[in-house]
Amino acid sequence: MATVAVVGTQWGDEGKGKIVDILSQNADYIVRFQGGNNAGHTVVIDGNKYILHLLPSGILHEGKKCLLGNGMVIDLEGLLNEIEFMKRVGVKLEGRLFVSERAHLIFPYHKELDAASERLKGDGKVGTTLKGIGPAYKDKAGRVGIRIADLEDPEEFKEKLKWNVREKELTLKYVYNYPVSFSVDKIYSTTLKLYEKVKDFVCDTVSLLNREIDLGKKVLFEGAQATLLDIDVGTYPFVTSSNSSALGIASGSGVSPKKVEKVYGIAKAYTTRVGSGPFPTELKDKVGELLRARGHEFGSTTGRPRRCGWLDLFALKFSVMVNDLDGLVITKLDVLDAFDQIKVCVGYEVNGELLENFPSTAKELERVRPVYETLPGWRKETTKVKSLKDLPPEAKNFLRFIEDYLGVPIYMVSTGPQRDETIEIKSLW
Ligand code: GDP
Ligand code: IMO
Ligand code: MG
Repeated sequence: MATVAVVGTQWGDEGKGKIVDILSQNADYIVRFQGGNNAGHTVVIDGNKYILHLLPSGILHEGKKCLLGNGMVIDLEGLLNEIEFMKRVGVKLEGRLFVSERAHLIFPYHKELDAASERLKGDGKVGTTLKGIGPAYKDKAGRVGIRIADLEDPEEFKEKLKWNVREKELTLKYVYNYPVSFSVDKIYSTTLKLYEKVKDFVCDTVSLLNREIDLGKKVLFEGAQATLLDIDVGTYPFVTSSNSSALGIASGSGVSPKKVEKVYGIAKAYTTRVGSGPFPTELKDKVGELLRARGHEFGSTTGRPRRCGWLDLFALKFSVMVNDLDGLVITKLDVLDAFDQIKVCVGYEVNGELLENFPSTAKELERVRPVYETLPGWRKETTKVKSLKDLPPEAKNFLRFIEDYLGVPIYMVSTGPQRDETIEIKSLW
C-alpha cells in the first residue's frame, strides 16, 4: 500500500502518536492535515516520552519526511518551540520538514478570543484547549485569515494584520468585555522574527505531496483529534473546528480522496473525552477512576483529567461508517487487565426504544441510555504478550466481540506505551 491514513475513532487521545510512530518506519512522508497544537501525540522511545503538538509523530525517525498540510492552523511560536526541542535532542530537520504556505496562522488575538468566548459561554463552554483553534478557523472560513504565504510580503501582511487587530479589538471590547493585550506592532515584529527562523521549511506542500504520491512514495496521513470531534460529523457543538475524521484528509492536504488507499481507525479499549459534551458511557464512579489511574488519563496538551468510561461500540460503528475504515487498531488493552468484568456499549436506548443511528445532535446524545453487554475480564498482565495467540482467552474474546460487532478486522493491538508493546496481527501497509 502506498498511501494510508490513521484517524481517531473516539474523542481523541486514542494513542495515534504511538501507532503513527510505528507505521512511520515504512513511510516516506508523514502528513498532518488538520488541527494545530491542540493535539498532543505521545511517542515513547527507549523510555523517553515525547509529546508532539504540531510536528507529525514520524519526526523522530531519521530521514523520514514530515509535512504540515494546508488544512492546519499553525502557531509559529509553538512550531518554533518544537523545532528547537528537536534540535536539542539531536533530531535533524533540514530537508525533511515541509510546512504548507497555505496553512493559516494562529495569532495572540485568536487565543484571547478563544478564552473570551469560553468565558461568555459559562456552563455551556466547549472546554477548548485555549490554543486559539476555533477563532483561527473562524477567520479562515470568514476569509480574513492570514496564511503563512502572506508573511513573504511584510507590507501586505501589515495591512491584513491591522484590519484583523482592529476587528478583534472591537469584538473583545464590545462583544466579550474582555481585556486586550496585543498590538499590531508587537504581533508584526514578533511574527516576522519567528518566520525568519522557520521560513526555510515553508513550501507548496500541495504540489510536493501530489508529485511524490504520483512517483509511488509511501505516505502516511496522521489525523489529530478524532471522528467524534469532527466539525461536521462529531458531537457538535462540542467538537474541534476542523474535519478531524478521514473526511478532512483531502481538503487538508490538497490530495484527492481517490489517492488515499486505506484508512485505519485507532480505538482505545475503553473511552475517554476531555472537555465538555455528551459522553453516554462515562463512569463517574470508582470504575472510571480506576480507568483514569491505570491509563494515566490526563491531557497531553492541557494536563486536564480525562473523563473515562466503557468502550462504546455503537459510537464506534458510526466512526467505522463515516471513515469507511479498512481496519482497526485497539490500544491500551493492558488498562483493562485489572477488571473482573468489562462492559461494552452495544446500543442506545431512548424512551425504551433502541436507536438505529448515532444521534446527530448533542441534545439527543445527552438523552440516550447506553445498553451494555458484559464480558469476562482476564485479570492477567498483557503488556509482555507478543502475539495474539498468547493473549488470555478472555482478551481474545473481547477483541473478537469488537470485530464481530463492527464487521471490521483488527490489525494491531497495543498493550503499553512503548514501541515494542504491540501485537501486530496484519500489516497495515
Ligand atoms: P493521541 O493524542 O491519540 O496520540 O494519544 P495521547 O498521546 O494523547 O494519549 C495516549 C496515551 O496513552 C499516551 O500517554 C501514550 O503513551 C499512552 N499509550 C499509548 N498506547 C498505549 C497502550 O497500549 N497502553 C498504555 N498503557 N498506554 C498507551
Ligand atoms: P489529540 O490529537 C482530545 C477537544 C478539547 C475540546 C474540543 C475543542 O491529542 O487526540 P479545541 O481546542 O480544539 O477548540 O477544543 O476538542 N480536543 C481534544 N481532545 N484530544 C485532542 O487531540 C484534542 N484536541 C481538541 O478538549 O473539548
Ligand atoms: Mg492526545
